[in-house]
Amino acid sequence: MTYVYPKNVETMKRAAKVIPCGVYGHLGPGEGCMIPSSAYPFFVSRAKGSEMWDVDGNHFIDYMCGYGPNVTGYCDEDVDRAALEQIKLGNCTTLPSHIMVDFAELLTSTVHKDWAFFAKNGGDVTSFAVMVSRYYTGKKKIIFVNNYYHGVAPWTQKPDTPGTLIDDCKHALYVDFNDVEGLKKVIAENKDDIACFISTPYMHGNFIDNVLPAEGYWQAVRKLCTENNIVLIVDDIRTGFRLSLEGSDTYFGFEADLICFCKALANGYNVSALCGKEFLRGAVSAIPYTGSYWMSAVPFAAGIANINKLKANNACEHFEKMGTRLNNGVMKTAKELGVDLRISGAPALFYWRINDELGNFLLHQEWIAECVKRGVFLTNHHNHFINLSLTPALVDKTIEICSEAMQVMVNNHPELYK
Ligand SMILES: Cc1ncc(COP(=O)(O)O)c(C=O)c1O
Repeated sequence: MTYVYPKNVETMKRAAKVIPCGVYGHLGPGEGCMIPSSAYPFFVSRAKGSEMWDVDGNHFIDYMCGYGPNVTGYCDEDVDRAALEQIKLGNCTTLPSHIMVDFAELLTSTVHKDWAFFAKNGGDVTSFAVMVSRYYTGKKKIIFVNNYYHGVAPWTQKPDTPGTLIDDCKHALYVDFNDVEGLKKVIAENKDDIACFISTPYMHGNFIDNVLPAEGYWQAVRKLCTENNIVLIVDDIRTGFRLSLEGSDTYFGFEADLICFCKALANGYNVSALCGKEFLRGAVSAIPYTGSYWMSAVPFAAGIANINKLKANNACEHFEKMGTRLNNGVMKTAKELGVDLRISGAPALFYWRINDELGNFLLHQEWIAECVKRGVFLTNHHNHFINLSLTPALVDKTIEICSEAMQVMVNNHPELYK
């Protein structure tokens, strides 16, 4: 018996009447990332640890982790206790709580940076990083890495995105990940005009196999940025606190000038942070940039408890171990069934893709849909995440479900799998 979703569909119908798209962005089916949509639930009723239950009562082991924020486990008791204690003391107050300073001290010492600036979403701090670079250098161009995602602000969009002006993108330059020669060329062609290079620590773009940095890549980028007065921005919003608690620049052996954190910072309590080096402190201080909730105390309290818990439990080792166990188990099934499964990225945020001889995505979508209908929540276009509450028993159950789903996909295609 596979899952059915009558209450999910009914709720989506209500949602579509009062909310454009029902569930907008990548959390809903509107962007085409949940295909066929009949395989997916749309609304959660509750979540705990690594598990969630939808409004029909279907149970899932969840590997999307809220697209990253669930890092310690849904409803983690230590993080929630810290947040609840802070709620009693005040959250969005006229002056910020002193706990903001405690959080900034913990964060800067953890990620080896000189200061921290807090906001709410990842896009708040990637946007600020670009503003700071432009103000500091007096230059305007931004080097992006193809297949990037840094949020939804106009400067991150492509000219053909509805609502974006060609002018919004006119200072954008593009290079490929791991392409040092391409980067040199772009710098040479735009000499004295480039404010910043912005990139995730490795390429985890959607719908594509993820790419880790080649040996020496980041060190070469660092050198080129320093030589050409280009601010080096690392967007660690997705990878932060999953590869290393010390920042992914440290993990890959170089030092970013600015680093952006968000998702795993406070286990789902809403806070993001831009952290940076001393020489940019003045530029950050000079730019008027703030928001109504950016200094709310509850997420700071949650963030402190979250980072301390990740440290106390050697979280990144756990992510690596669980991710490797899962990847090995699923790869074993794929080999037995003759399925060309590609696993990419780091085990803590792996990406799976079934390679299709025809070069399309249909077999992969079909397999992921069969996994979801049996209780493993994944999406087909985006990397998956491991969190601290994930146990070997849940991983083994996941392997069992994903293997059964793969067998179903294979049986559906005798023309491909003899
Ligand atoms: C690498 C990266 N940068 C930036 C963002 C934007 O973060 P937010 O959606 O919190 O604005 C995301 C969100 O998924 C991301 O993965």
